Amino acid sequence: MKATTSRLALLALAVLMLGATTSGTVSITMPTVTVPLKPGPGMEVVNANCRTCHSAAYIYTQPRLNRAQWTAEVAKMKAAYGAPIADSDVNTIVDYLIAQNGKP
Ligand code: HEC
Repeated sequence: MKATTSRLALLALAVLMLGATTSGTVSITMPTVTVPLKPGPGMEVVNANCRTCHSAAYIYTQPRLNRAQWTAEVAKMKAAYGAPIADSDVNTIVDYLIAQNGKP
């Protein structure tokens, strides 16, 4: 009898604690991080193709890559991550990437 009572008390306590942790909505404000693309030929094509999944910071935080490396990077976005980039846009995109953060 006594054991049942304390079990009930424990259960009631557990329910109360559960209520305390799940009730009430906590809202947080995430910082807005906007990394603009720098102006240059092809910027609009890059804007349309490269900013749907992640910020443009990825372009600027890479080491300077050459044409083959940037071409491989764009191909990776398509093959590995399913980016819907038209083949006809790849050259424009790579030209822009080299102008922004490339090396010969
Ligand atoms: C379909 C979604 C998607 C699109 C569109 C996309 N990326 Fe990515 N990208 C990813 C994912 C996923 C990663 C790796 C995961 C991470 O680090 O966030 C990544 C990583 C990168 C990196 C970091 C280096 C690496 O290889 O991981 C670069 C640079 C990059 N992307 C450039 C681009 C460029 C340039 C474009 C436009 C041609 C582009 N991305 C379009 C999904 C995408």
